Amino acid sequence: MKKSPIKRLEDMEVKAHQGGDPERVEKQHTQGKMTARERLNVLLDPGSFFEIDAFVLHRAIEFGLDQEKPLGDGVVTGWGEIDGRLVYVYAQDFTIMGGSVGEAHGQKICKLFDLAMENGAPVIGLNDSGGARIQEGVSALAAYSDIFYHNTLASGVIPQISVIMGPCAGGAVYSPALTDFTVMVENTARMFITGPDVIRAVTHEDVTPEELGGAHTHHRKSGVAHFTAEDDSQALSLVRRLLSYLPSNNAEDPPYLPPNDPPDRADEELDHLVPEDPVKEYDMFEVVRHIVDDGEFLEVQESFATNLMVGFARLGGHVIGLVAQQPAVLAGVLDIDAVDKGARFIRFCDCFNIPLITFTDTPGFLPGVEQEHGGIIRHGAKMIYAYAEATVPKLSIITRKAYGGAYIVMSSKHLRGDICLAWPTAEIAVMGPEGAVNVIFRQELSQADDREAVREQLVKEYREQFANPYIAAARGYLDGVISPRQTRPTLINSLQMLRGKRTRRPRRKHGNIPL
Ligand code: HXC
Repeated sequence: MKKSPIKRLEDMEVKAHQGGDPERVEKQHTQGKMTARERLNVLLDPGSFFEIDAFVLHRAIEFGLDQEKPLGDGVVTGWGEIDGRLVYVYAQDFTIMGGSVGEAHGQKICKLFDLAMENGAPVIGLNDSGGARIQEGVSALAAYSDIFYHNTLASGVIPQISVIMGPCAGGAVYSPALTDFTVMVENTARMFITGPDVIRAVTHEDVTPEELGGAHTHHRKSGVAHFTAEDDSQALSLVRRLLSYLPSNNAEDPPYLPPNDPPDRADEELDHLVPEDPVKEYDMFEVVRHIVDDGEFLEVQESFATNLMVGFARLGGHVIGLVAQQPAVLAGVLDIDAVDKGARFIRFCDCFNIPLITFTDTPGFLPGVEQEHGGIIRHGAKMIYAYAEATVPKLSIITRKAYGGAYIVMSSKHLRGDICLAWPTAEIAVMGPEGAVNVIFRQELSQADDREAVREQLVKEYREQFANPYIAAARGYLDGVISPRQTRPTLINSLQMLRGKRTRRPRRKHGNIPL
């Protein structure tokens, strides 16, 4: 007897939902991984997922592919809600042809991007794939290229988040790299352009897949991973938390949360956080924790270039992007990795209407042959460009050192910082007292009998004269010097004042940021 249309649909739905063979699902679970649909259930608000293209089939015939046409072609796509807000999602299904990307698989993802851009909501991609579907040849490469193109078009229009929950090898890595944030799951996620076998053959280096492209490597060394998570479920909750700081698109403001923390809260402990000894370290996390709403800070790239901290928090309920030196690591020096990290974060915030708050305490750019030959000039320029170009409200506080180029870079008045403040402990000059005295009093020092005592005296005089915020304040380069305890109320008040900020830039196609 012929199946009723409804029965046929129900059977197809069941089949589509099953994913790959039970043994493959079992293997996925044994490896500690969820299936694509299990992941979506954890990521989205219960019952909010609406799937599209569940019945899509590939049309490839090469290498016997015409014998294997799984429903959905190895990727689950659709939309749902996170905390009641619309998001578009795709989850690659490793149990179907290894989640490999063929023509149809790629078209499903691109269709989702078109919807997301037209309707202004983020795209979250859950990646677990063997990469380009080998049997489909150039069609698979074309599929990836289309995804990259859509990633690029969507950049700065809607937030894009990639979660790597399995293999992500070869050119496939470039889709996550083109998105705004990458989360990697420890022990299961692997990202590399070429795997250990090829590396062994070409460069004779021996490396395990985990060492080469595991979550820790990309979180600590390469900076590719913005976040890591212990398992799938933790990675998905992290995405939910990250989204709570992001607007749905570039025309909206980030979500406001009425604060429990009083906006006028003065915090006396801040007055004692910066040590009197100018070379003694302190923890900038503490500064941040005392100032932002409920001390809550979501740090981005927390294990990479730790001499600079970037991340999201709220002030008076409004989301802010925070950029701050960490004097407890390399004295908060600016080096190649730190400026790359800072510049990209600043540009993200500027794309998505997130005001920038900068805390400065840096002796300047890191001197050294390695840094110079590594291109600190072109890397450092990224940070200047990013701050100068940003039109979101820009507020800064110099807590201690702001020497040389680093004074300019860190959201200074000269790069059109809107409100630039300093604590009384601030030191602003072309260079630190020791270096300055060696240069400007070279002759006196070489002729002095008691060179060290003279040097000490000159350093003391230089410090008294220059290492303070009042010369900059006298010229209006600082809008004020405030007592540390007043930082939270002052920032909240200034942000409120800047809420209507509008700026004009010269007409152009786009600038040419030094990359
Ligand atoms: C087609 C693939 C596939 C692929 C995996 N499969 N990757 N099929 N194209 N790229 C299939 C396998 O044949 C297998 O099918 C099933 O998926 C599960 O794979 P396993 O190998 O059994 O899984 P596992 O042991 O966990 O190993 C996972 C893996 C391995 C490490 C990802 O499958 C692998 O090395 N795959 C190839 C990776 C790769 O080189 N991809 C191309 C990258 S280049 P059966 O039916 O046997 O179970 C690239 C270029 C993009 O992506 C360019 C963009 C510009």
